[in-house]
Amino acid sequence: MSNAEHHEGTRRDFLYYATAGAGAVATGAAVWPLVNQMNPSADVLALSSIRVDVSGVAEGSQITVKWLGKPVFIRRRTPSEIEDARSVDVSDLVDQVARNANLDGSAEATDENRAMDESGEWLVQMGVCTHLGCVPLGNAGDFALDGGVGGWFCPCHGSHYDTSGRIRKGPAPENLPVPPAEFVDETTILLG
Ligand code: FES
Repeated sequence: MSNAEHHEGTRRDFLYYATAGAGAVATGAAVWPLVNQMNPSADVLALSSIRVDVSGVAEGSQITVKWLGKPVFIRRRTPSEIEDARSVDVSDLVDQVARNANLDGSAEATDENRAMDESGEWLVQMGVCTHLGCVPLGNAGDFALDGGVGGWFCPCHGSHYDTSGRIRKGPAPENLPVPPAEFVDETTILLG
């Protein structure tokens, strides 16, 4: 098998869809084993960059991909989610730092500083609760919009994140971190 084929095969294995039904939700609530975060195996380390095809992600839904052994949430937000995220005053936030690896470490936690693109349609963030590392549930929590759209909730100890992935309530101290990410073409995001 050539390197290119090997890479393709590995990448496909790493894509799984959070919209796959109840099974995926149950998995999302599980504690992400800390050992996996601390000691990524050699094959995981080798994939320090992955390309993710987001052409199949509908507005108002998200996929979860695994990168460096951790889940990454890639969400295509609705206009209401974006509007909600952008209407928040930074001074009302628990963590006022963007936590975006693509920006200066002092950047403020405005939604504009967390979203991938200017329109705010795409939000990419680590799916790891900043309290003790559980995987938060999507479309859940006190900061989801009516009808349970957007927002994240970590059921382990009750942390609520808003439609921009910013911590708003509960024990988690920081916003969900935004990993190094960029669009390399219209439908492909490069992580790492
Ligand atoms: S790990 Fe998420 S609230 Fe404790």
